[in-house]
This record gives sequence, structure tokens and C-alpha cells, in this order.
Amino acid sequence: MKETIKIYSPVDNTLIGSVPAMSQTEVDEAIITLKESFKQWRKTSIDERATLLIKAADLLVERAPEIAKVLAMEISKDYKSCVSEVVRTADFIKYTAEEGKRLKGETLMGDSFDKGSKNKISIVTREPLGVVLAIAPFNYPVNLSASKLAPALIGGNVVLFKPPTQGCISALALVKALTDAGVPEGVIVTATGRGSVIGDYLVSHKGVDMVSFTGSTDIGQHIARLTGMIPLVMELGGKDAAIILEDADLKKAAKNIVSGAFSYSGQRCTAVKRVLVMEEVADELVTYIEEEVKLLKSGLPMEDGVVVTPLIDKKAADFVDTLIDDALAKGAKMLTERKRVDNLIYPVLFDNVNLDMDIAWEEPFGPVLPIIRVKSVDEAIDISNKSEYGLQGAIFTKDIDRAFSIANRLEVGTVHINNKTQRGPDHFPFLGVKSSGMGTQGIRYSIESMTRPKATVITLSE
Ligand code: NAP
Ligand code: G3H
Repeated sequence: MKETIKIYSPVDNTLIGSVPAMSQTEVDEAIITLKESFKQWRKTSIDERATLLIKAADLLVERAPEIAKVLAMEISKDYKSCVSEVVRTADFIKYTAEEGKRLKGETLMGDSFDKGSKNKISIVTREPLGVVLAIAPFNYPVNLSASKLAPALIGGNVVLFKPPTQGCISALALVKALTDAGVPEGVIVTATGRGSVIGDYLVSHKGVDMVSFTGSTDIGQHIARLTGMIPLVMELGGKDAAIILEDADLKKAAKNIVSGAFSYSGQRCTAVKRVLVMEEVADELVTYIEEEVKLLKSGLPMEDGVVVTPLIDKKAADFVDTLIDDALAKGAKMLTERKRVDNLIYPVLFDNVNLDMDIAWEEPFGPVLPIIRVKSVDEAIDISNKSEYGLQGAIFTKDIDRAFSIANRLEVGTVHINNKTQRGPDHFPFLGVKSSGMGTQGIRYSIESMTRPKATVITLSE
């Protein structure tokens, strides 16, 4: 009998659905199907592929309320953010379709290089890679799946799609929109099954031509050790710092920090995960942050205005608890009431965090915000760069020259000036350095990473 996986809601433990646990033989069969479909799919025109994507985006918008309901219960994200995720995904897919049409080749003349031949002309086109293995995390199962599927498809690739197990019912709704829009059978094959069981087999399969992975640093590093000589794009964990200078608009900074740290209960790679504030303005900033934290509503995803919801599972909530225990044991000042109901952890704000505490370095993926007081900009940059992660950073100041000079010294993929850390808009490059990733996403960058240049050289007779 075929093995299935039952998906329960982290909100109330109700059964949301069940999916097959794919076997190794089924993966082999899927790759054969994909390779066969690739022969036809790569021949379709970009315009044809774009038309299908745009239709899928329209279907997603139509279905947004129903998909958002499933999403809210499956990954315990507040309903409003779930609707935004689906609509943002539709926008992402539409822009990808347009960007795909803008993808250009080029013509290079041989004699523009020193001693090059005037007779040689290189016609450079872009080719699909083949079978793209797309692996997505639980926290944006619709959006972060589409951010791999859409660029892969517009580039002429076929996709072996491994959704997160917790999140796969919502991710399957995305695939359904694509197939209902007319993406032919066999162009996307969904490989459901636990990553811990089928993951290694998928990533080391000889039939896979590229892996695009978003998830934790541990799993990303594990995958990087297993894959062979194929392109890899990895978007991994983070420990984004918000650096607050003396001249910052502190009220604005506090609002940004709190929404950056606590939306979706801190389960975002780009969440503000530590505050590095200049000592002289620390008291004032902390007061404003405390006021903002008090306004956060905690509860269940379908409640109006809720921001902090139960974490994805007990393991995640227990991990956050160990970070809180460690910080308290080492003398951090807790400015909020400590409360946990099952996996719902109420927002936690810590002042006077020092560098011996785990919360200064670990990614909690939960609603905990540590504040570290610093004496100088150099100290802030030093602490920021000492992290193993390098996803994003934020600087709050009115002095744009100083902001740029700090931005230049931060070892991260993106720096936001006077705004919280965040991925969008989705056509911007999105990348992490150090343990936060390799390669670049963002619509055009993703299409480029999933296609390669092909040079055809004509040598003219004299
Ligand atoms: P995760 O545990 O690493 O899982 C991510 C995906 O990898 C899931 O689909 C998972 O499948 C699969 N997987 C697990 N083991 C695998 C293996 N051996 N081979 C292949 N795939 C395997 O991450 P998560 O808990 O879902 O997501 C949270 C983490 O992702 C955080 O660290 C967060 O910072 C990071 N993240 C980063 C970004 C970014 O863009 N930088 C965006 C979002 C999230 P199962 O679900 O079946 O285990
Ligand atoms: O979890 C990681 C996502 O890439 C974050 O996206 O900044 O739009 O929430 P976001």
C-alpha cells in the first residue's frame, strides 16, 4: 500500500489533508517523465509560456480567499498575511512572465577584444538548464515555491518540486493554478514526502540539473555537500541586525523594528533578529519599542488584527524557550510578561543582552527580540559582522553619508536605510552571504540563474 503523510494544523490539530510520501522508484519515474516533457516544453515560445503564467496568476487572485484559509490553518499565519502572500505571488508570477519576455541574448564582435578576429561573431542566446529541483520552506509555501517555479518555467525548464511537508497542501494549490492555466502535464512534478526521508535522494539524483533551495542553513549546507557539479542557489537563515544611530527618528525606527521582528511571529528569514543601539539613545528607543510591542495582538490566525500566532510546531516553540531561559540565566532584562500557551509564545523583548547569550547569535525563528547597547558604530559593525549569517541589515539615521559608509562595511546581501529588513519588492536582488546563502534570487536574477548562455560563433570568410 502507498505510504501517505497526514498534515495536521498547528493551530488546532485538525486534519488538513494528506499527501503521498514519494518513494525512490517514483522519483526515478518522475525524472524520466520530466526529461521527456523537457524536449517539448523548451521548444514552446516565451510568449506562450508567459501567457500560461499570467493565466495562473489570475486564477490565484480569484482563489486567494480559499487558498489563504488553508494557508492560515496549515502554517498558522494570520489570515490577512495569507491573503497578501497569495496576491503577492500572483504579482510575482505576472512580473516574471513580463521579465521573461525581456530576457535578451546578445551579439559580440570578435575584434572588440585585443587581437581578436574581425571575422568572428558570437551570437549569445540563453538556454534552459533542464530539470530544476525546487525545494521550498514552510513559512511561505505559496510565495517561495512560486519564486522558484515561475522563473524556472519561463526559462524553459521543467520542475521537480519538493514542497515543505508542513505547507504542502497550500503549495499544491499553487501547482493546481499552474496546471489549470494550461501548464502541460509532466512539466511540473510534485515530490511530496519528508525531506529527512527523500531529500538526500532528490538532491543527489543524476537527473537533476540545478537545485534551488530555500530553508535552514543546516539543511542547505547538508545539500551543498551532496550535490554534484550542478548550479545551486541557496537562500538560508539570517540574524539581521537593525543599527540605530544617535540621530535616528526613534519613533519611526521603533515601529519598523517591531513589525520587522514580530510579523508572522518572527518566522521570516528577514525578520529583525537583533537591535544594536547607540547607548545615548537606547533608553528612549527601548521605551518606544516597548510601547509598540504592547500593541501587538497575539492569538489564532483567523482572529482579526492578530500578528503573533502559534509557532509551526512544538520543537520550534521549545527552541525559543531555551533561548529565553539562557538569556534570563545570563542576566538579560525581560521587558515583557513571559507567557506560552501550547505553541503560542507571546512576544518577548529583552534589553541589556550581552554577547555571551545565545540570543545574540542564534536565529530564534520566533517572537523574541534582543536589544544590545553599543558604544560606537565600529562596535555595532563588528557585532553585526561577527555573526555566521549575512542576509540583511538595517541602519536608522538621518545622515545618509554615514549610512552609506556603514552599509559598505556590513557583510550582508542587502542593507536597508531607514526601513526594516525585508525581501521585497520582488524584482530586487535577494541574496545572503556567508551562511545565509549562495547565488541570487529576485525575478530577473532567478531567471538568469536558471538559464545559461549559449554561444554560437560564426567565422566569416575574408
Ligand atoms: P528546513 O527545515 O531547512 O526545510 C526546508 C525544505 O527543505 C523543506 O521543504 C524540507 O522538507 C526540505 N528538506 C529537509 N531535509 C532535506 C534534505 N535532506 N534534502 C532536501 N530537502 C530537505 O527549513 P524550514 O524550517 O522549512 O524553514 C525555516 C528556515 O528557512 C529558517 O532558517 C529561515 O531563515 C530559512 N528561510 C530562508 C529564506 C531566505 O530566503 N533566505 C526564506 C525562508 C526561510 P520537509 O518540510 O519535508 O522537512
Ligand atoms: O522568510 C523569508 C522570506 O524570504 C522573507 O520575505 O521579507 O517578504 O517577509 P519577506
